[in-house]
Amino acid sequence: MNAPVRRSTTKLAIVGAGAVGSTLAYAALTRGTARTVALMDVNRQKVEAEVLDLQHGAMFIPPAEIVGSDDVEVCRDADVVVITAGAKQQPGQTRLDLAEATVGLTRKILPGLLEVAPNAIYMMVTNPVDIVTYAAQKISGLPPERVFGSGTVLDSSRLRAALAQHCGVAVGNVHAYIAGEHGDSEIALWSSATIGGVPLLEWPALEGRPPLDAAARERIARDVVDSAYRIIAGKGATNYAVGLAATRIIEAVLKDEHRVLTVSSKLQDYHGISDVCLSVPSLVDRRGVAEVLDVPMSEAEIAGLTASADSMRAVQRKFGL
Ligand code: LAC
Repeated sequence: MNAPVRRSTTKLAIVGAGAVGSTLAYAALTRGTARTVALMDVNRQKVEAEVLDLQHGAMFIPPAEIVGSDDVEVCRDADVVVITAGAKQQPGQTRLDLAEATVGLTRKILPGLLEVAPNAIYMMVTNPVDIVTYAAQKISGLPPERVFGSGTVLDSSRLRAALAQHCGVAVGNVHAYIAGEHGDSEIALWSSATIGGVPLLEWPALEGRPPLDAAARERIARDVVDSAYRIIAGKGATNYAVGLAATRIIEAVLKDEHRVLTVSSKLQDYHGISDVCLSVPSLVDRRGVAEVLDVPMSEAEIAGLTASADSMRAVQRKFGL
């Protein structure tokens, strides 16, 4: 008797085959994140070339079906749909400067995606990701946990990398989060951060390492906020770290990992903040954003998060969201 054909049915659809979308596809394929990776872009020549280039690496990656098209049909029955398509942040531009173009694009492409992938979890990566996530939730009408943004997962990774380097400790032993807007108003949650189980604010400098005093923390936090500007000025776009961050989030969904990540979701009465999408540590699993964690925050952190919320709300009002 023939054994039943067991094929993992996980399908990841990536909308936008630009620097971020194609890097995300590459990262997901090398990690075996999904059995099928579908790439969609209005530029048919580009998306077909990206798919061909990825397919040519097939013998070096876990088994996967790699497809692509300029037709939304290629996203049919996806388990996770990631939207990376949008205006490109130019040198000197803030992410919020892109809001008009990317909210308009979201309004245009989301209905077609919902038709072919009505049961998917939707993750926004396009900037300004918090505004785009809020818009996508309103446009889609899906349960809020199924529409979220990559948020400050990337920024938290930048923060941890900088702290690990400063303190001379492996990045896996640094537990610190960036919260709020994925952008200029984001804040570091110092009061809840730990390094190897030691509260970060009590971290004693290791032999030969500089102290992690207020000045060092301020510099590190500022460098995190400025990271994208520096990279964009140097190479025109960021793609590697955001591709890896998005892949980590997708894995938490597809593999039901119950992983704590600072994704962007709509907050309700969170330290007094409501009806705005921001990033705070949240539980991500097959349901999407299953739970927003009530992380203890200092008065200054709550004030920073509130200021971030005010900034987002002002943009939401400007675009009638
Ligand atoms: C960055 C882009 C993804 O921060 O906003 O690199």
